[in-house]
Amino acid sequence: MKKVVDYINANNSRYIEELKNFLLIKSISTDENHKKDMLKGAEFVSKKLNDAGMNKVHIIKTNGHPLIYAEWLNAPGKPTVLIYGHYDVQPVDPVDLWDTPPFEPTIRNGKIYARGATDDKGQIYMHVKSVEAHLNTNGKLPVNVKFIIEGEEEIGSNNLEEYVKINTKFLKCDAVLISDTALYAPGVPTITLGLRGIAYMEVEVTGPNRDLHSGTFGGAVANPINVLAEMISKMMDKNGRISIPGFYDDVIKVTKKERERFKALKFSEKKYAKEINVRELKGEKGFSTLERMWVRPTLDCNGIIGGFTEAGAKTVLPSKVTAKISMRLVPNQDPKKIAKLFTNYVKQIAPKSVRVIVRDLHGGYPIVTPMNNKATIAASKAMARAFGKKTVYMREGGSIPIVTIFTKQLNAIPVLMGLGLNTENLHSPNEHFDLNHFHLGILSSAYFFEEFAK
Ligand code: BES
Ligand code: ZN
Repeated sequence: MKKVVDYINANNSRYIEELKNFLLIKSISTDENHKKDMLKGAEFVSKKLNDAGMNKVHIIKTNGHPLIYAEWLNAPGKPTVLIYGHYDVQPVDPVDLWDTPPFEPTIRNGKIYARGATDDKGQIYMHVKSVEAHLNTNGKLPVNVKFIIEGEEEIGSNNLEEYVKINTKFLKCDAVLISDTALYAPGVPTITLGLRGIAYMEVEVTGPNRDLHSGTFGGAVANPINVLAEMISKMMDKNGRISIPGFYDDVIKVTKKERERFKALKFSEKKYAKEINVRELKGEKGFSTLERMWVRPTLDCNGIIGGFTEAGAKTVLPSKVTAKISMRLVPNQDPKKIAKLFTNYVKQIAPKSVRVIVRDLHGGYPIVTPMNNKATIAASKAMARAFGKKTVYMREGGSIPIVTIFTKQLNAIPVLMGLGLNTENLHSPNEHFDLNHFHLGILSSAYFFEEFAK
C-alpha cells in the first residue's frame, strides 16, 4: 500500500490540474442549451477512466444524457465494487453572486471554486485517481471494479433507473460505492447511513382568464397568488407538522439508540445558525435539529412563479400562479403514495374561486443501511486510515434516488463515502471543494479497495 500512497501524494498537484479541466465543462443537465456540454462531460470521464487503466470503457447513449461504463475484473475470487457518481451539475443562477465565474475553476485558501466542484465532479474524480494509483504502481486492483457514471442525477436519474433494471446481471456487484454526500465536519471521516427520499410536485392555480387591473377588479375576484399562499399555509401546522391526512402513516420512528448516536455527534445549533445567518432555527416540535434533517419528513415550497416580478410597481391581479413544492421523505414513506395524498389534499383545500392542477414532477425513495456489513466496515476502516481518526456515522437530509434502485435491483450494499461538506455551497453560488478532502478522498478510496479485498 505504501507505493500507492506515495504515488497519490506525489501526483497531487497533477490531479488538481486535471480536476480543473473537468470543472471547465458546463454540464448542466436541466438546460437544453447545454446538451453538447453534457457530451463533453461524458467524453472527459470516459477518457480519464481509460487513461487510468480501466477496461471496456464506453459511453452509453440513453433517451437523455449519456452514461459512462468501465470495468476492471481481473481479481477472481475477490468482491466487486460498483462505483457510482454523476457528472451533471446544477444551473449557476444567480450568476452575479459568484465571486469568480462558475466555470472558471479558481483555487482560494486550499479550496477549488466552480459549479460541480463538490457535487459531484470532484468526488467522482477521487475514485478515478485512486484506481490510477493502484494500476500504475501494482499493475492491479485488490478487488474487481465497475464504474457507472451518469449525467442526470440532478434531474431524477430516470434513464439510469431504466438502464439498471435492464442490466442487473451486467452490473452485478457486492457493494455500490458512492461519494456524493458530506463529511460530518471538516477533517472528520464520515460514513452516511441514510438518505431522505423526495416527492416533487407542482401546483398551478388559475383564476380569471387574463391578468386584470387590480384596482378595477380587485376585491371582486380571488387572486390566485393569495389563494395559493393560503393553501400553502394550510400544508403545515404551527408545530411544524405536515397537515396532509395520512402523510405520517408509514414513517418509522427514530429508535432510542439512534437518538443517542445523534446526540453523541455534539451538534452545535448555535454554530449552524450562525453559518447560515439566521437568528434562530425552526422545525418540527419535539425533535432536535439533526432529527429534523435526517429522520423526519418535510414540506417546502422551492419557488413561486406568477404575477409581476420586474423592478418597480405594476398594479395587476394575475391570472395564474405556479408553486414548486417538494417533500423530503423518510423510511418507509413511498413517494408515489405521498404524491397522491398531496394531490388529494390540495384539491380538497382549493376554493371554488380558482382552478387547480397538480403535477407529480419526480420522486425518489428514502434509504437507510445497516452498519454491520463488510462493505460499510471496510469503508469505515479505510477512511480512518486516510484521516488518522475514528470514523463517525450520520444520516443525510438530501436525496440520491438511484441508491434505492441499486440496492433493490442489484441486491448490493450502498456505501456512502462522501467527502463534501454541507457548507460547500452545493446548488448555490460559489460552490467549492476542499482540496485537502479531495486528497484524503483519493486515499480513502485506495484504502477501501484494499480493506474490502480482505
Ligand atoms: N449530492 C446531492 C445530494 C446531497 C446533498 C448529499 C447534500 C449530501 C448532502 C445530490 O446531487 C442532489 O442534490 N440530489 C438532489 C436529488 C433530487 C434532484 C432528486 C437533491 O437532494 O435535491
Ligand atoms: Zn450530487
